[in-house]
Amino acid sequence: NRLDPIPQPPTKPVVGNMLSLDSAAPVQHLTRLAKELGPIFWLDMMGSPIVVVSGHDLVDELSDEKRFDKTVRGALRRVRAVGGDGLFTADTREPNWSKAHNILLQPFGNRAMQSYHPSMVDIAEQLVNKWERLNADDEIDVVHDMTALTLDTIGLCGFDYRFNSFYRRDYHPFVESLVRSLETIMMTRGLPFEQLWMQKRRKTLGEDVAFMNKMVDEIIAERRKSAEGIDDKKDMLAAMMTGVDRATGEQLDDVNIRYQINTFLIAGHETTSGLLSCTIYALLKHPDILKKAYDEVDRVFGPDVNAKPTYQQVTQLTYITQILKEALRLWPPAPAYGISPLKDEVIGGGKYRLRKGTFTTILVTALHRDPSVWGPNPDAFDPENFSREAEAKRPINAWKPFGNGQRACIGRGFAMHEAALALGMILQRFKLIDHQRYQMHLKETLTMKPEGFKIKVRPRADRE
Ligand code: HEM
Repeated sequence: NRLDPIPQPPTKPVVGNMLSLDSAAPVQHLTRLAKELGPIFWLDMMGSPIVVVSGHDLVDELSDEKRFDKTVRGALRRVRAVGGDGLFTADTREPNWSKAHNILLQPFGNRAMQSYHPSMVDIAEQLVNKWERLNADDEIDVVHDMTALTLDTIGLCGFDYRFNSFYRRDYHPFVESLVRSLETIMMTRGLPFEQLWMQKRRKTLGEDVAFMNKMVDEIIAERRKSAEGIDDKKDMLAAMMTGVDRATGEQLDDVNIRYQINTFLIAGHETTSGLLSCTIYALLKHPDILKKAYDEVDRVFGPDVNAKPTYQQVTQLTYITQILKEALRLWPPAPAYGISPLKDEVIGGGKYRLRKGTFTTILVTALHRDPSVWGPNPDAFDPENFSREAEAKRPINAWKPFGNGQRACIGRGFAMHEAALALGMILQRFKLIDHQRYQMHLKETLTMKPEGFKIKVRPRADRE
């Protein structure tokens, strides 16, 4: 066999390993397989191999961008129906990838975060205002409210649009279309006859994509016409409309700008909400850590419960940031990413041959629990894993929730600031109640989020 000696689970004729993979929770299934089969294994997906890597040593080697590059295949390739050649779903060699990467570094940089901060506070206040007005017995659907927060935040900071998710019972029609599209994309597996039973869904996908494109195209066209002038606005759309790529001297065209906005909405609505939801879960299960988090928020934000946090204050929430990083370790919302070798390779100190282009998945969920890095008890939630000393001691490429190298998440600073602010404002006001004694159950879509997680809140009695 051409991938020998890489282990492989038992196969069936024709389909190989394809049908034995749990299609509702593939990542969790792969994570179990990694425990059984070790730091590298491969699956035969009806003739095409996927190599799954999760050991730290191998991931470290595969993070060398001179030898390996991101690959847009499988489900991610199909996300191009919505994301086109936007940053997330573009191949590195497509001209629009480097062009948009160069132009977008500025609106995702540190200085830009300061200008988004007031909009982030605006949306986080809508969340805490909603929670303040609940009756004592009302339940909060955590993922729903966190998704409302993250979606509205990227809408406002990204292109000055208000989805107003806190003022409606269902999601905005754009989000309904987006969620339905991603569902269809994830259900498509390239099986025989799939085209037949998926016909209706595929038609709806076409309609949904057309609807989303139209809405975003109108926002862009409106801005081009607007009397205010593009330069007056400080959002990402303005940066994309005026930014020039230094390397080529070119600007982004409107179709590509639309794809970037679609991309920010995919990234903005799925991932940061998963992070916040998992973090709240972890805090409920660890009263000692929660106590330290309250202490930090009280110290940094001060005694006035209604004081709006400043940008500087949010950057001082260092323990909260450790908690968020630890949640990203145990429950990475983007649980895997795909790369492939740029030429024929031998990895693992001469052990394994990988042909040029072999689809290789970095299984972040398993990497983040590799005992060679995280010690004998890698499943325990411990923010001390991200104390300054622990971070300095840790080998590189052990913690990869945001992907790798130049293709890593461009929105990570945005996500971390938004999450620290929101969590800080929640803890500033509320006691959290785990009335269901919820146990983590992860639902997989394009990302992983807790399913059916409800809490109740009360105003903090200790601050009254
Ligand atoms: C790429 C995770 C939030 C925009 C990525 C990648 C990961 C990731 C793992 C690399 C994917 C790959 O290699 O295929 C996360 C997580 C987030 C988050 C865990 C929140 C906790 C955001 C936000 C935005 C964003 C808020 C935008 C507003 C992007 C974009 C890319 C990307 C545009 C593609 C970058 C490129 O290839 O040039 N993200 N992300 N992400 N993310 Fe995020």
